[in-house]
Order: sequence, then structure tokens, then C-alpha cells
Amino acid sequence: MNGLFGALRDAGPDHWGRRVIEKHAGRAQLGELDYLLESPDDRAGALGFGHNNMPPAPQRKFNKTVDLEKLQALADALVIDEIPNDPHTQQVQDLMLLSTSMGGARPKTVLQDGDGLWIAKFNRPDDRWNNTRVEHAMLRLAHECGITTAENRIETVGGKDVLLVKRFDRYKTAKGYMRARMVSALTILRADEAPEARQNWSYVILVEELRRIVEDAKKDARELFRRICFNALISNVDDHPRNHAVIAKERNWKLSPAYDLTPSVPVSLERRDLALDCGDMGRYANAKNILSQHARFLLDKDEAQKIINNMKAQVETTWYETLRSSGVSEKDSRILRGAFVYPGFSL
Ligand SMILES: Nc1ncnc2c1ncn2[C@@H]1O[C@H](COP(=O)(O)OP(=O)(O)O)[C@@H](O)[C@H]1O
Ligand SMILES: [Mg+2]
Repeated sequence: MNGLFGALRDAGPDHWGRRVIEKHAGRAQLGELDYLLESPDDRAGALGFGHNNMPPAPQRKFNKTVDLEKLQALADALVIDEIPNDPHTQQVQDLMLLSTSMGGARPKTVLQDGDGLWIAKFNRPDDRWNNTRVEHAMLRLAHECGITTAENRIETVGGKDVLLVKRFDRYKTAKGYMRARMVSALTILRADEAPEARQNWSYVILVEELRRIVEDAKKDARELFRRICFNALISNVDDHPRNHAVIAKERNWKLSPAYDLTPSVPVSLERRDLALDCGDMGRYANAKNILSQHARFLLDKDEAQKIINNMKAQVETTWYETLRSSGVSEKDSRILRGAFVYPGFSL
């Protein structure tokens, strides 16, 4: 695992942050520890990294909502590779204003407002649809399906939509931000992203591990079951193990709110696969498959079947209205139609 324990890896930057850091450092690739040391203190979870015994002083200045337009322009420039390869230019210096420490591949930054800290997720110039509005809509739809989701809202700056997702690993107090610990499902599964390490990518194993770790096993096991159904119903095939996490505000661990819910429109109408195994038929995003391991999720068969049926009906009847009332255009809604309750789900 490149010399890093999973829990440390979770605190490091991922594709997006690495790209920013490499550009800033003027180098193509750095060591795993360099990435940790180069990324600022707003990283996910409670860990801090420094050269000495004492943790580095907390970063005081966070970006504000008023900076969004500039940050969006910087993110665009990096995505379309318009940033010069010269570390002395202002643009390269400014890059570090973008958050490098949060994971994920999409352009993003961290912001502070009166309510706390938020992850701001930007659209990319080459996106097929308005991702930020669509993700906002999916978080709403998931909430309506009884799933606990991260608080979120849309801000529009200079005509561009930005999704703000409230950080669930930071709590504002009079003395500053308290940090919750955070560990990804990739770490819980003792897995890696390398193709040969993916045999551990399994919701069935994940739920077993969760039941050992979390405070309220029944609650979180059932919640995970709902999330699997939801991902299958919206064709969210980007549900990889970094898109699930557990957090501990104090002593006890629990499943984090759901985040990064994105529909897709694969060509196949019969078979779509989630990123993790979800039943006896492997990764197949299919109702029978999901039902097959109901007992591991501490649900009896009837309860599990009922969750599946109700959620299917809910998504079927409300996806369009939820997209449109979240500001997704008619055109984007049409492109995305095939994501919802695809025929293979009920085969
Ligand atoms: N609301 C949140 N609070 C704290 N950490 C979060 C939150 N949302 C996402 N994260 C962390 O940030 C990472 C990147 O966010 P994500 O929404 O998955 O972006 P991307 O679309 O680029 O994958 C996640 O893998 C997770 O570790
Ligand atoms: Mg993600």
C-alpha cells in the first residue's frame, strides 16, 4: 500500500489534491509522505501531520463564499491545463487556495461560512450535464428515500453552480473547529484501489465489519442496505469504497452521512454493476441480488423486500420532479432518464 496504513492514506489527498500539489511543487510525482506534509490542515478526519513532535498550528484562514468565483476560475484553468508550469507565477501560487487535502477526483475546495466548514464542488468544463445540480438533486432524492445525507446547498457565482456540502467531520465551537475521526470503507475493508486488491470490495463484508465497529449495528446495517438499493436505482456505479466512511465525533463510531451520489447512464439495460459486491450474484445492481444477503444487514426477508419495493416506487415516481425542482434543466433530465430504475434492476 505504498508504505501507508489505510487510516493515514485516508487523510491524504486523492487525484484532485495530488494534481494541485504536483502543479504547485512543479514536480510530476511525489512520495506518499510528501503529499501528506504538503496538504494543509483542513484534511478529512482528525489527523494532523508535521515534521516535529508537535502538530502544526491549525490553518486560520479559510476561503469564504465570496472567494468562490476566483476559486472556480482557478479550478477551471487547472482542469483544462491552462496553468503555466512555472511555480513562480501568481496563478500557481494561488492554486494552493484550492483545497488539496480532501479526497476525490472532482474539482473542489473547502470554504467557511457562518455555519461552519463546507466542501465546495465545482462543475468541470467537460461535464456531460450540470453535475453540481444533479448531485444536489440526488442528495435530496436519497433523503426522501429515508437515507441520512450530508447537508448541502447550491451557490451560483458568475453564472456557475457550485455544490456546497457541509463537512460532517468538523464541528464549530466557541474555541474553533472540533474534529471527528474518519476512516473510509477502503480502509475498513483492508483494501486498495489496485485492480488486484478489489476482491475485498464488498458491501457484504463491509456490513460485517461495520457491525463490529459501530455503536448502533442494527441502525447502520439497515442504513447501508438502503444506500445499496439507492445506488442501484440511480445507477450510481461510482459507489467505490472511498465514497463510504465511518466517523467518530467522540468515542463511538457510526456510518457517516451519505455523500457523492452520482447517477450514470451505461449502455446496458440488462446489467449494471455497482463498485462493490452486493449479493450472491456479485456486483449486479439488481433487486434479487441485493435481497439475497438481507440477513447480514440485520433485516428479515420481508422487511428487506419492502425497503426495495418502496424505494423503487419512490425513485420511479419522483426522480424527474426532484431533478427539475433542484434546477436541473429539461435537457439534462432527458439525458439522465435512463439512470433511474433501469430494466435490469427488476430482472
Ligand atoms: N460532507 C463531508 N464531510 C467530510 N468529508 C467529506 C464530505 N463529503 C466528502 N468528504 C470526503 O471528501 C472526499 C471527496 O468528496 P467526494 O464528494 O467524494 O468528491 P469526488 O466527487 O471528487 O469523489 C470523500 O471521499 C470523503 O473522504
Ligand atoms: Mg468521491
